[in-house]
Amino acid sequence: MKQFTLLSLFTALIFTSAIIISGCTKEGPQGPAGTDGTDGTAGCVKCHDDSQNIYAASVQWEASTHATGGNFERNAASCGACHTSQGFLQRIANGTMEADGTVENPAPINCYACHQIHETYTEEDWAFTASGPVEFWIDGTVADMGKANLCAQCHQSRVPDPIPVPGGGDVEITSIRYGPHHGPQGNMLAGSGGYEVEGSLGYNSSLHTELVENGCVTCHMADAYGAQAGGHTMGMSYIYHGHAVVNDAGCVACHEGEDIDEKVEEAKADIDVLLADLKGLLIEQGVLDSSDYAITGTMTSNQAGAIFNYQFVREDRSGGTHNFKYAKALLTNSIESIN
Ligand code: HEC
Ligand code: HEC
Ligand code: HEC
Ligand code: HEC
Ligand code: HEC
Ligand code: HEC
Repeated sequence: MKQFTLLSLFTALIFTSAIIISGCTKEGPQGPAGTDGTDGTAGCVKCHDDSQNIYAASVQWEASTHATGGNFERNAASCGACHTSQGFLQRIANGTMEADGTVENPAPINCYACHQIHETYTEEDWAFTASGPVEFWIDGTVADMGKANLCAQCHQSRVPDPIPVPGGGDVEITSIRYGPHHGPQGNMLAGSGGYEVEGSLGYNSSLHTELVENGCVTCHMADAYGAQAGGHTMGMSYIYHGHAVVNDAGCVACHEGEDIDEKVEEAKADIDVLLADLKGLLIEQGVLDSSDYAITGTMTSNQAGAIFNYQFVREDRSGGTHNFKYAKALLTNSIESIN
């Protein structure tokens, strides 16, 4: 990424003053005298200062999957709404699930997607582009995850066709990609949006749902470990002496003295067994293949729901950490419902 230079600051300043001046002449009566150059840059310097905050965030972001994932080429209206910076801003402005159209010159999710950069040219511009409670697309559930409401706008289930209804009749599955799509972490953390078929476990959430005030941000954006984890890398683990280690900076406030890696591994081990059992059953019943794609055709709503839950927990990718109780109940009850 190009570095910020004084020359470009100066150029931008001339450009913004030009806009302000031309604005005045258009609006008739002359307002009070404008601010001079020194005052004009005061707002800029609040952010473009020597604390190197922007530089550090940029280095972290550059190493993140938001910058490197490459999937911003998914720029059709329905995909660009989450996969491109511009498409996301369009759909938030419109309150729709799609971008205005195919996004030209698509940009990956960057500073401008999440912060209101250069709107007022003051520090207020660190404000997020989306901040209120999220209303999830799949079921209209509303959740408030503080700063992570921003994340959950994109990290949520898409709307599958059909939406599986517990106790419904047979359904026709026409897409091998049947499921919630890749990033349903928001729904998982909120503890909703799964196929809640009746079974031996109730649908309760782990205490993370209620207690982790800023959701994703508390854990994934805790103090950075270089450019591998935390901060704007949003990564959860880093390599230390050849081993992957969980960045526990956001956990210690609650898990003081606990072995976090062990806890995460334990949760994962339990969830992996359930995922394998459910997958085995779905393959046996001819509705899923070994590469995790649905086998299209008519099936019972419990089978479709079981495929959905399988993909929901698998694509959540936290191995149970996000919401252990909910993930466990979805898998356990699904296994019972098709067994
Ligand atoms: C809210 C904090 C904030 C304020 C206030 C702010 N900027 Fe920026 N500015 C940013 C961020 C963030 C970027 C993007 C950094 C990047 O791309 O790595 C940026 C980028 C830039 C760039 C590089 C353009 C580009 O596209 O990369 C210029 C030039 C610039 N700002 C000038 C200004 C000027 C002039 C002002 C005051 C009139 C100002 N900024 C006020 C945060 C701010
Ligand atoms: C504009 C939509 C959008 C927003 C807002 C957003 N994300 Fe993402 N996120 C994505 C997409 C899309 C990807 C995958 C990028 C790719 O593959 O090109 C991703 C990837 C990630 C990954 C990396 C997963 C991996 O495999 O490495 C993490 C972690 C993540 N996001 C966390 C967050 C957090 C935390 C927030 C809120 C602070 C957030 N995201 C906000 C869309 C978004
Ligand atoms: C509601 C937001 C949203 C929409 C709409 C969306 N995606 Fe995604 N997509 C995501 C997120 C978030 C991730 C990253 C999830 C993660 O890393 O766990 C992702 C990841 C992906 C990946 C990477 C998967 C991988 O395993 O690396 C592909 C490919 C993809 N999406 C394709 C698409 C296509 C094609 C469309 C349109 C038909 C689309 N997406 C629409 C949010 C969305
Ligand atoms: C996916 C969303 C996302 C992207 C992309 C993103 N940020 Fe942020 N940023 C956040 C969130 C969320 C916080 C709040 C973190 C916290 O409170 O711990 C934040 C906080 C910050 C802060 C501290 C702001 C303050 O109030 O003091 C700075 C500085 C910052 N970001 C700079 C950047 C820059 C520079 C870029 C681009 C290189 C960028 N961010 C890209 C989500 C994002
Ligand atoms: C309680 C802490 C916590 C919260 C809250 C949390 N995560 Fe995670 N997340 C984790 C841990 C731990 C992992 C697994 C790391 C591992 O396996 O090494 C993970 C894994 C992931 C992954 C898989 C890729 C990766 O980085 O390992 C994504 C994507 C992700 N989380 C996104 C989110 C989003 C989006 C939210 C908010 C909706 C969220 N997380 C909330 C702790 C958390
Ligand atoms: C705000 C407090 C808080 C934070 C922050 C927090 N946890 Fe937890 N965590 C808890 C509590 C309380 C439990 C006990 C869960 C229960 O009984 O529902 C728990 C349980 C767990 C479990 C066991 C599975 C379960 O839910 O029973 C894992 C794994 C875990 N946490 C990992 C993490 C990781 C990793 C982080 C940081 C990335 C983290 N936690 C951050 C409070 C927190």
